[in-house]
Amino acid sequence: MKILIASPIDVDAVKELSREHDVEDVTKVTKDKMNKLLRECEVLVFRSGIAISAELMEKAPRLKLLVRAGSGVDNIDMPYVRERGLDLVRIPEPGSQAVAEMAFAFMLALSRNLFKADQSMRNAEWIKYELEGYLLKNKTLGIVGVGNIGGRVGEMGTAWGMNTIGCIEHFSEERRSELAQKNIDLMEFDQVVSQADYLSIHVPLKDSTRNLINSDVLSKMKTGSYLINLARGGIVDEFALLLELSNGNRIRGAALDVHKLEKAGKLSPLAGLPNVILTPHVGAMAIDAQREIGRRVIQIINGYDGNQSNIQLKHSKRGTASLGIGAAK
Ligand code: MLT
Repeated sequence: MKILIASPIDVDAVKELSREHDVEDVTKVTKDKMNKLLRECEVLVFRSGIAISAELMEKAPRLKLLVRAGSGVDNIDMPYVRERGLDLVRIPEPGSQAVAEMAFAFMLALSRNLFKADQSMRNAEWIKYELEGYLLKNKTLGIVGVGNIGGRVGEMGTAWGMNTIGCIEHFSEERRSELAQKNIDLMEFDQVVSQADYLSIHVPLKDSTRNLINSDVLSKMKTGSYLINLARGGIVDEFALLLELSNGNRIRGAALDVHKLEKAGKLSPLAGLPNVILTPHVGAMAIDAQREIGRRVIQIINGYDGNQSNIQLKHSKRGTASLGIGAAK
């Protein structure tokens, strides 16, 4: 099959695919070259950071299968995908663990002033007594979006001795009791926001979640709390957060892995604040997780015979969720 790799994925997976298929790495090619290669493309493999627009897909008349080497579909023109009847397979599982672990890296770094401590040592300072921090244990962890990633964050929070609460978009008693067994209490969004010492965002970006964490919501957060966003830029209103952090002491710190503008040369409005940690969308960038995603990309493509449902039969006796496959149609 003619495969275009449009985002960096595990190099061994690309090598392995190249044994059986005609694979082109288009992560660094010019627009003209990309347009030319799209004409023959049957399978497109990609992550976040590239817009899989109708315009792009129209340039690929032979395109049959989209492989999202990760979770989010906010960069894909989904109505176009459905209308054209393209197959779309996502691989959300392996990256979820990496993102959930990263939430703890953020919570610990914020609570224990890790970046300030590191910086002070590089400046030959010894400011031990200015670097007091807080325990995670016995604090309230509030999860906005207790789904695949949020649920893992919640389980890990419980294991750390945190009081774990969360909310979901579509409440059901069944989900509430499922989560209660993991010691995660489902509540209303407002309750989660106002009770959390650590508010961690894990919802997808869509119309209903754009600027979900706005000035009104920020003003309801607990005094001394921390905000963490590993979901998508655009869910937290960065300017509202800048105002809140600059003018008050309600929010003690924030960590954001995802940003409204994600591109070299773009500076976050929060970049000047000492109590903010900013990282370049690296939540899922754990080598083990990316290796596993690469392995699944190979399975999906090698098992594809023009019918997405057959991939699921060939590769998952345990069902689609365990393999982390989601369908576009
Ligand atoms: C994802 O949605 O899986 C993440 O954003 C990781 C990525 O695609 O780089």
